[in-house]
Parts: sequence; C-alpha cells; structure tokens
Amino acid sequence: MRDSFGREITYLRLSVTELCDLRCRYCMPEEGVCKLRHEELLSEEEMLRAVRAAAALGITKVRITGGEPLTKPNILSICRGVAATPGIREVSLTTNGLRLPELAVRLREAGVRRVNISLDTLDPERYAYITRRGKLADALRGIEAALTAGFEQVKLNAVLIGGFNDGEIPALAELTRRWPVDVRFIELMPMPGETAFGPESYLPVSRVLEALPALRPEREDGVARLYRLPGGQGRVGLISPLSQHFCASCNRLRLTADGKLKPCLHSAEEIGIKGMSEDEMREAMAEAIRRKPRCHGELSAARRSQAARNMNQIGG
Ligand code: GTP
Ligand code: 5AD
Ligand code: SF4
Repeated sequence: MRDSFGREITYLRLSVTELCDLRCRYCMPEEGVCKLRHEELLSEEEMLRAVRAAAALGITKVRITGGEPLTKPNILSICRGVAATPGIREVSLTTNGLRLPELAVRLREAGVRRVNISLDTLDPERYAYITRRGKLADALRGIEAALTAGFEQVKLNAVLIGGFNDGEIPALAELTRRWPVDVRFIELMPMPGETAFGPESYLPVSRVLEALPALRPEREDGVARLYRLPGGQGRVGLISPLSQHFCASCNRLRLTADGKLKPCLHSAEEIGIKGMSEDEMREAMAEAIRRKPRCHGELSAARRSQAARNMNQIGG
C-alpha cells in the first residue's frame, strides 16, 4: 500500500520483546526497565495475525527486532510462523549476537535469511562500557556463528560516537576484508530520555569517508549508502539519520512488542492493535500507513527524537 506521499510501504519491523541482556547506553537505561505484564504483550498468535494483516496490505519483508529478539523464549517459532506467512518473501533479524552460537543454525532453519549484528567497538573494555555488561568475545563468537550458519547476508552495525569509537573507523571497516560482511556506521540518534551523550558525541558519518579515502562508492541499500574498500569482501555502509535523513524513501512500518503500530520511528504517534481481529488489524495498519508523516523533524543533540519511547521499546 502507498502512503499519502506516494511511498510504497513494504517493510515491517516487528519488535518481539523490550527486554535485552545488554544495556547499551544509547538505547536503554541501566535500571528502571519496567517489565511489561504478560497481558500487555502481543501473543505469538497476535504477532502472526498482524503479519498476515500486513502481508494483505503489501508488506513483503519483515525484520524481527527487540530489545534483544533472541531473549524471547519462542523466537524460533515466531520466525518460522512469519517465514511461512503467504506474501512474506523475506525474514531478517537484528540482534546483539550474544546468543547466536546456540541459535544461528536453528534461526536459519526457521527461515531467517539475513542477520544484522550490533558491534560498536573491537576493544573489550569499550565494549563492556558501551553495553554496560557485555563481553566482546561473546559478540565475536556470535558473528562467527552467523558466518558459518549459511545466512544470505550478515551486516554489522556500529553506532558512531564521537570520543568513543571514532578512532576505530579503520579497524571496524577492515572487518569487511576479513569476513564477507557489510559494516555499517550509524549516526547516533538522540532518543528522548537519554542524557549520556553531549553534542561532541554526535558525528556525521562523513567522518568515515574522511578516515578512509580508499572507499569507493557503490549503490544504496535501504537506509545505507554503500562503499567498498579495495579487497573488501563486503561493503562499508553509511546510515545518516541526522546529516542526511532518508525519509523520502522510507518504506517502513513498525509494530512494538506491546502491540503499538508506529508510523514513524521518531514520532510519538501510536495505534494499538492488541486484541484485534485480523480484519481490524488490517484496517489499523492501513490507517497507520495513511498517517505516516512526510518526515521526522530535524534531529540533533539539541533536538531530540519525538518518539515517546527508548530505542529498546521500538526496535530501531
Ligand atoms: P536492512 O535494510 O534490512 O538491512 O535493515 P536496517 O538496516 O533498516 O536494519 P537495522 O535493524 O540493522 O537498523 C540499522 C539502523 O538503522 C538502526 O540504527 C536503526 O535504528 C536505523 N533505522 C532503521 N530504520 C530506520 C528509519 O526508518 N528511520 C531512521 N531514522 N532510522 C532507521
Ligand atoms: N542511535 C543509532 N542507532 C541505535 N541503535 C540503538 N539505539 C540507537 C541510537 N540511539 C541501533 C543498535 C542496533 C540497531 C537496531 O539500532 O546499535 O544495531
Ligand atoms: Fe540491547 Fe540492542 Fe539496545 Fe544494545 S542496542 S541494549 S543490544 S536492544
């Protein structure tokens, strides 16, 4: 279905849980993460009903997100159900990777075609700092498990943070030579409640081009502009929600774990679908697509996202 600005909406980001085994500083608070009551969450049946309703409106691609989707006990069954939904041609998943050593092969068998894994740094102390509790070695083991499980594509996501990992741009990009992965640098998005980062943390991804003059442009892929290093097996991607937003080509709708449709990542507008029949869900989704704003307002350290949630409650 097309929205009011002529954009074809074909991509659903389905968040299956707000919970996470990490606490990345740009994503969620250390404490006070309030666990939703069971009855507030979408059941697996409701998620699959919502995916059927979305498919009826022309959604062909579903990305499963969180929180951390691999903390959800029934994640394999959810993936299997989404992949088996008529009209859904592609199921992918975004994860911190920690649980991939035990789950990668089974996710692939459940029909997940591609995975995106967060990796902001290659320094163990910095990894422990930014995630507030993670071990870098576990994330690296997860990436290796994804690479051997036979996914069609593996992408690594690095949120670029001034004074934290901007000195690691070459080392992170170098991973595209070592492994067949895309490494994407993402501009830090200022979420509403977060206070950890000052203006110096918000760097434009043009810094990556400055740090790596050997990069050669390739094409665009969704939200990322792609480049390649000489000898790179995978590409280096730039995701620039602040310096050069991509709203004009946005093809996404979001559904949160507590059953709220979000027409836009950075708007407070939400439409609840918990407890609805499939027909009602389809009507609510059509309304959410009609209400997709042309663009979110400008984002900067001083102008925060209008989303009424932390990132872990949206799914990125
Ligand atoms: P693919 O194109 O399928 O690889 O998905 P993706 O790159 O959108 O997924 P991923 O979950 O890896 O997200 C990468 C980054 O893009 C995260 O920081 C997301 O928050 C951000 N992102 C995804 N969609 C949007 C969007 O619609 N608007 C903005 N501003 N950021 C987005
Ligand atoms: N800004 C940019 N990217 C973010 N992510 C989470 N929070 C933010 C933020 N504030 C990224 C994660 C993950 C993806 C789903 O979203 O690093 O890779
Ligand atoms: Fe968890 Fe991902 Fe948020 Fe980090 S970015 S706290 S891994 S949901």
